Amino acid sequence: MPVIAVIGAQWGDEGKGKIVDLLAEEAEVVIRFSGGDNAGHTVVNRYGEFKLHLVPAGIFSPLTTCIIGNGVVINPKVLLEEIDQLNQRGVDTSRLFISDRAHLVMPYHLLLDGLEEEARGGKAIGTTRKGIGPAFADKTARLGIRTGDLLDREVLRERLHFILSYKNTILTKVYGADPLSEDEVYAQYCQYGEKLSPYIRETTAMIEEALEQKKRILLEGAQGTLLDPDFGTYPYTTSSSPLAGGSCLGAGLGPTKVDQILGVFKAYCTRVGGGPMPTELKDEIGNLIRERAHEFGTTTGRPRRCGWFDAVAAKFSTRINGFTQAAITRLDVLDTLPTLKICVSYKLGEEVISQFPSSAAVLEQCQPVYEELPGWQAPTSHIQNYEQLPPQARQYLSRLEELISCPISIISVGMRREQTIRKRPIF
Ligand code: GDP
Ligand code: IMO
Ligand code: MG
Repeated sequence: MPVIAVIGAQWGDEGKGKIVDLLAEEAEVVIRFSGGDNAGHTVVNRYGEFKLHLVPAGIFSPLTTCIIGNGVVINPKVLLEEIDQLNQRGVDTSRLFISDRAHLVMPYHLLLDGLEEEARGGKAIGTTRKGIGPAFADKTARLGIRTGDLLDREVLRERLHFILSYKNTILTKVYGADPLSEDEVYAQYCQYGEKLSPYIRETTAMIEEALEQKKRILLEGAQGTLLDPDFGTYPYTTSSSPLAGGSCLGAGLGPTKVDQILGVFKAYCTRVGGGPMPTELKDEIGNLIRERAHEFGTTTGRPRRCGWFDAVAAKFSTRINGFTQAAITRLDVLDTLPTLKICVSYKLGEEVISQFPSSAAVLEQCQPVYEELPGWQAPTSHIQNYEQLPPQARQYLSRLEELISCPISIISVGMRREQTIRKRPIF
């Protein structure tokens, strides 16, 4: 089973970084395929604790090739800093490659992300303000600049001249902001180009070769299914597809090449930013989960909204991704709770519904209908075998497995790589 897509199954921050770091020990190639530095993937291993925004979480495995795919938008400043920090901490980045088709986050994207959010007022999306939405919008509008353009200064100058004059008009005339200097942006991006050129490649040929050699490949998702611009809680979503379907587009391989789709779920739910979240707990239990689990955004430091596991949303996630396996993370966070709840349907007015609504306005009105299960009230962080888990924890996991309708292969009980229970082999 050589190609596995690792997909965020909820609203992001499910623990994809930890799972990819773990599986990368057995993989020869890891490809990040979507998002940008809005992602924050935490990895805790023998090198220490890392918060990766752009570099694939396979970078710690000494023989693994890491690729930032065409589907990622790259802020070169952030990427260069990340590479620097990894090198300073003894992590070798010579096996990192960047697709020459990946689009760049430009200074006007950062400005516009902030200005657009402010213009939305009370309806703000709560973006990470990393310029991600504006960069993907420009990609689609054919106003993007790609990493490959950094390799040819004439092309870069020409693209920038055309695009920046247009962006400056928007900045000054629509938002009353200051224009950006073309010369300064050009000089800056020429410098980035020089530093990044050793990493920039046509990466689809590399991937094809790896496939031909039957190498084990991980497709590392960013964000989560419910932030997908098509299937998430639109418009409270991100701007690129975190779905299994997006993994092929964002890496550059055909759907027939993907063998397994691993959905990563937290044992409860969190969300950072605006938009509906039916099981959100605005009470003591929500605070307890947030404090116990340090649920603060990896990228922005914002407190994450916490709530019970939402099986209506989870089933929908399985449906649109076609998960073949699941990983459940952060089981240990629930260790102290006497009772656990799982949302099994929604109440919408007088009606009980079991389908995840397509409209954020409708989802906003949905009230969770819960099933209660007993807690285990015992520590689990040290446990290595499924059978050693308290019976109530196994009961909780079995119920999740039933509700999300796909087998659980991995259970994570702590931040560190070794705090993981492998129930079934993945590769
Ligand atoms: P990602 O964006 O999906 O990679 O997830 P984040 O790194 O943003 O957030 C997940 C957080 O949970 C990080 O702080 C991880 O170190 C932590 N984490 C991952 N798995 C576990 C687990 O099983 N238990 C606990 N307590 N923390 C975990
Ligand atoms: P990882 O990969 C959690 C959320 C933002 C906001 C919305 C749009 O770490 O799971 P954007 O900056 O993308 O335009 O913001 O999406 N968001 C994430 N939430 N984890 C992420 O990534 C996220 N990336 C974006 O908080 O609500
Ligand atoms: Mg994260």
